Amino acid sequence: MAASDKPHASGKVPAGDTSQRVGVEAIEGRGVDVEQLVQKLIDAAGAEFTTYYYYTILRMYLAGEEDYKEICEDARLEDRAHFELVTPRIYELGGSLPYDIRTFADRAGCPDAYLPGTDDGKRAGGRDEIVAEASAEAILGVLLEAERCAIRTWSEVCDLTFGKDPRTYDLAQRILNEEVEHEAWFIELLSKERDGVVRPSGHFRRGEPGDAPYSKNSGFYNP
Ligand SMILES: [Fe+2]
Ligand SMILES: [Fe+2]
Repeated sequence: MAASDKPHASGKVPAGDTSQRVGVEAIEGRGVDVEQLVQKLIDAAGAEFTTYYYYTILRMYLAGEEDYKEICEDARLEDRAHFELVTPRIYELGGSLPYDIRTFADRAGCPDAYLPGTDDGKRAGGRDEIVAEASAEAILGVLLEAERCAIRTWSEVCDLTFGKDPRTYDLAQRILNEEVEHEAWFIELLSKERDGVVRPSGHFRRGEPGDAPYSKNSGFYNP
């Protein structure tokens, strides 16, 4: 038997009104502070984007440590996938990325993952410069803390949206799945490298670099 009267055919947003979104109204009605959520998503997207950038440098300095390099590369490319996954959601919710990338980087919700020994990125860098402090151990320490910040970030987004905003929750929990894996990888590597202690992560290699099994968008967008 059909439900009576098509109760969802109309609502608070007038028909044809493009200045409001039922997709926003519906989650506000369930208790989401959408403006606060959008600001947190922009901060989180900034952290993914800047981490992708900094991991590029960290990976370069893992020279000669092919296993570490490959795992850093997976985490790097998956952060790019996280940026790609969350950014459309910011716009759906009526938000926008900052127009200036400097603003975006400054408001990133996690610290800059500087290469150790570069005076927080202030050293100029150059072809012949040796960054003696950028040992595998020091780099793995930076990677580990970056992943921990990401876990805290996406756990908070999950908490803010659970049971209220299924779409943001779905994206956040997919990202969180990978951040938890990334932390486990770097615990395994740092523990062995620094302390000679085996703390298995359960990791074996991704199928392809940056496979992003939980968070990847269509290959068209994120090849
Ligand atoms: Fe990430
Ligand atoms: Fe990560």
